[in-house]
Amino acid sequence: MIHSIGIDLTYLAAAVLFILGLKGMTHPRTAVRGNLMGSVGMLLAIIATLLAGKIFSFWMVLAGMLLGGGIGAFVALRVPMTSMPEMVGLLNGFGGLASLLVAGAEIHRAGVEHAQAIAARSAEWENIPRAVQTSMGADAPIPFGMTSDVALAVAASCLIGAVTFAGSLIAFLKLAEHPVVKQLPRSPQQQLINAVLACVCFLLLLGVTGWPQTETFFWLLAICAGVLGYGLTIGIGGADMPVVIALLNSYSGLAGAATGFVLGNSVLIIAGSLVGASGLILTNIMCRAMNRSLPAVLFGTLGPTADGPKADDVYKSVKSTSADEIAMLLDVATRIVIVPGYGMAVAQAQHAVRDLSRLLQDKGVEVLFGIHPVAGRMPGHMNILLAEADISYDLMKELDDINGSLEQTDVCLVIGANDTVNPDARTNPTSPIAGMPIINADRARTCIVLKRSLSPGFAGIPNPLFAAENCLMFYADGQKGLMEIMAALKSG
Ligand code: TAP
Repeated sequence: MIHSIGIDLTYLAAAVLFILGLKGMTHPRTAVRGNLMGSVGMLLAIIATLLAGKIFSFWMVLAGMLLGGGIGAFVALRVPMTSMPEMVGLLNGFGGLASLLVAGAEIHRAGVEHAQAIAARSAEWENIPRAVQTSMGADAPIPFGMTSDVALAVAASCLIGAVTFAGSLIAFLKLAEHPVVKQLPRSPQQQLINAVLACVCFLLLLGVTGWPQTETFFWLLAICAGVLGYGLTIGIGGADMPVVIALLNSYSGLAGAATGFVLGNSVLIIAGSLVGASGLILTNIMCRAMNRSLPAVLFGTLGPTADGPKADDVYKSVKSTSADEIAMLLDVATRIVIVPGYGMAVAQAQHAVRDLSRLLQDKGVEVLFGIHPVAGRMPGHMNILLAEADISYDLMKELDDINGSLEQTDVCLVIGANDTVNPDARTNPTSPIAGMPIINADRARTCIVLKRSLSPGFAGIPNPLFAAENCLMFYADGQKGLMEIMAALKSG
């Protein structure tokens, strides 16, 4: 009794730490403390679960922790910062797979126990005459060792876990910009196929929860839900991946919560629900940032609407510039907006960005940073990098705050951003990024784009900004280019 109360209290403490941790992570200044609180909460939950007396074999658990932890640590230490989003996508998928496998193990256990009970009854009554057996109720079915609410949780874990796993694998490949993605099959009738698959999944779910609760239905549901997860993600194109990643993150939490019901583990239900709810809130924020509707994401109806204009046509009148010319423009500017993008992260140019901004501020120039909510490859990517370089949060302005004043800006310096400053989103209704809010870099008096070439960004489409009348291209690696500009500014 005391032991059980102790476990419940530890779970409660873990749940409180999860909530405080999430609260801490809502602001960059408290994020590290929030992360620590969440980790301590998870440690408490693991210790309490190990002590709860329901562990089948400590050695198996230890071996699993060492193997999984070892692989995780090895991969996490080697992964470059720019590949973190892929890794997060993959980890979401593994969360879904874990939920699916736990539910699978549970229905398998119940099936084995059921078969053993039938065999035991047959053996027990082997020598009793058939008529007596019948009169004693030997023909009455032995109930499957799983109540209908647990069976529903098993089916939900299977369905959501498989969708999450398959969807996350596709998201991983897309984020890694792996060439295999282009070869993966997809159909123009994908939405219809998805609808049919969803109906089949529903019927299989009824099979798992109702009659006759066989493992076969479970694994058929896992396969069908996996194909559905594939179908829901494969068509997502353009720049819409951030919304999908947030949604898959939410699904992995919901799968975990369902598994909590399967195992009767309260802390897993709480942790899974927190991940599910916060992932859904993030999905909503991303939807607003991208001007997309949640149903379009949920039903996988986002996707490229047209191939867009050809690069050769768009880039007929591109003008390039040099570090010396940029230094002259910056020297006479009174207001400069720096717009960082994924290329700044690749070039690890955040410290050079800080040095340039301080150099300009020392000359009395007003320098602000325009941060697009999906710049880079993960939410808050640019804010984190700039904060790491000691750039004040007060100078980082969100899209709506910066756009109003770009027309009064002398120079907008775009560093490694592309899709997030592509005016096609505003002007071309057939573009895959149509409707996505952008930073209006093209409306500054002069726009300078620092990147290595005219290569496209994540959405894979040309950017008319580069050919705009007021735009100059500076072809260089982000970090090296900034160094050259600073050298020119100092010598000028
Ligand atoms: P992108 O549109 O992806 O463009 C990045 C640009 O950086 C590329 O055009 C590339 O051009 C340039 N670049 C790469 N390495 C560079 C280097 N070393 N130095 C200078 N430039 C370099 O970036 P964005 O504007 O930040 O947009 C983000 C995109 O990712 C959006 O489409 C968004 O939807 C998507 N996405 C975002 C997230 C989240 S949550 N933020 C998650 C998934 C996907 P060069 O090769 O010519 O240099």
